[in-house]
Amino acid sequence: MKDLTPRKEELDPIEIASRDEIAALQLVRLKWSLKHAYENVPHYKKSFDAAGVHPDDLKQLSDLSKFPFTVKTDLRDNYPFGMFAVPRDKVVRIHASSGTTGKPTVVGYTQKDIDTWADVMARSIRASGTRPGDVVHVAYGYGLFTGGLGAHYGAERLGATVVPASGGMTARQVTLIEDFGAQTIMVTPSYMLSILDEYRAQGLDPRKSPLQVGIFGAEPWTNAMRAEIEDAFDMHAVDIYGLSEVMGPGVANECVESKDGLHIWEDHFYPEIIDPETGEVLPEGEKGELVFTSLTKEALPIIRYRTRDLTRLLPGTARTMRRMEKITGRSDDMMILRGVNVFPTQIEEQILTVAGLAPHFQIELTREGRMDAMTVHVELVSADIDQELRISACRKLGERIKDIVGVTVRINATEPGGVARSQGKAVRILDNRQKG
Ligand code: DLL
Repeated sequence: MKDLTPRKEELDPIEIASRDEIAALQLVRLKWSLKHAYENVPHYKKSFDAAGVHPDDLKQLSDLSKFPFTVKTDLRDNYPFGMFAVPRDKVVRIHASSGTTGKPTVVGYTQKDIDTWADVMARSIRASGTRPGDVVHVAYGYGLFTGGLGAHYGAERLGATVVPASGGMTARQVTLIEDFGAQTIMVTPSYMLSILDEYRAQGLDPRKSPLQVGIFGAEPWTNAMRAEIEDAFDMHAVDIYGLSEVMGPGVANECVESKDGLHIWEDHFYPEIIDPETGEVLPEGEKGELVFTSLTKEALPIIRYRTRDLTRLLPGTARTMRRMEKITGRSDDMMILRGVNVFPTQIEEQILTVAGLAPHFQIELTREGRMDAMTVHVELVSADIDQELRISACRKLGERIKDIVGVTVRINATEPGGVARSQGKAVRILDNRQKG
């Protein structure tokens, strides 16, 4: 893999500003954001008043802990445009997340918000090792999902040549990557694995592909998966994070030279880690739920938004801005099996250690009597694997999950293609407990 570290002169000065400079900028912007939300969004006026706080009460950054949280249902309850802080005709773009139940969550952007988003995305793509003039293949979905258009505007802002492939039609993705010479791909890590299968199905050597950088996010993925993809394509695999309510992709991104967690673009997004049970802010370095406050957003200021994502904050390394550790999972995705907490990423890590198994998997939950049971459906790397090897791979995986994760699970190894594929975010958990 090539050294793609950006030169210092290429960075935005704020990326390597002193902590004092960053904190001073954050304080000014946070005061503005609280005031903007309070004065223009009835929901915030009501919730601040109910908590007995006023934007003027914020004298230092840590005072933010006095302010109430915002949760997903607040956006749903104010569907569609009730959380907007500007008149509807100043909103130039709408995105929405489908959500599994009820109404979608709607987010809006002014022209200035779209510019800020393009700037932080360009910064993210550059941190990943991409340069102006490179070909960037965007296979995140275009549409109401923020992935496709977010990546697109950022890559254009950086000065790259953007190929807006969107998701799906996997054979064509491979043709476009090869024919247009994509240096960078932006896609969910699970869909990247489908693209990898397609390379092999077409008899192409993925290590000879023009790809040098993959910018993967929108779902949890492990360092074991990073190693798998980097080795398969001989490319850098870099993590990108974001969520619609806070902006979209580009809230935080890894740096290609360190790959040690994601630098949060703290000049626009202020992070806190809280205890998900008590709501208390936890000291730096402790693991808990990530909470974000927007510092510059006009259309949809978001104050102390509970992401449900679990991680910890770490000091800066390749940049002065703080990092968040690679996300282990969402509190919503945590399964509890006989008292043991299990995340899909823990299962992914173990699958990747067993020879003969491919990293395509789904976890099925069923109820047997009064107990919950878990079955891991995982694919074999090839249809030619004999019965003996199949049995030993299943046994090995079962043992590793028992030893390391601490739960007993059933393993079902299927032929290649036996596990449902997504063209965007992978669905890792099938909850069939009601039906059991
Ligand atoms: O997934 C935005 C995005 C698009 C991020 C493309 C990165 C790349 P939502 O659909 O609103 O937005 O989903 C946000 O996805 O709260 C996390 O649970 C999860 N997520 C996003 N990035 C990562 C990541 C987009 N790098 C939700 N690692 C978030 C783990 C991630 N989970």
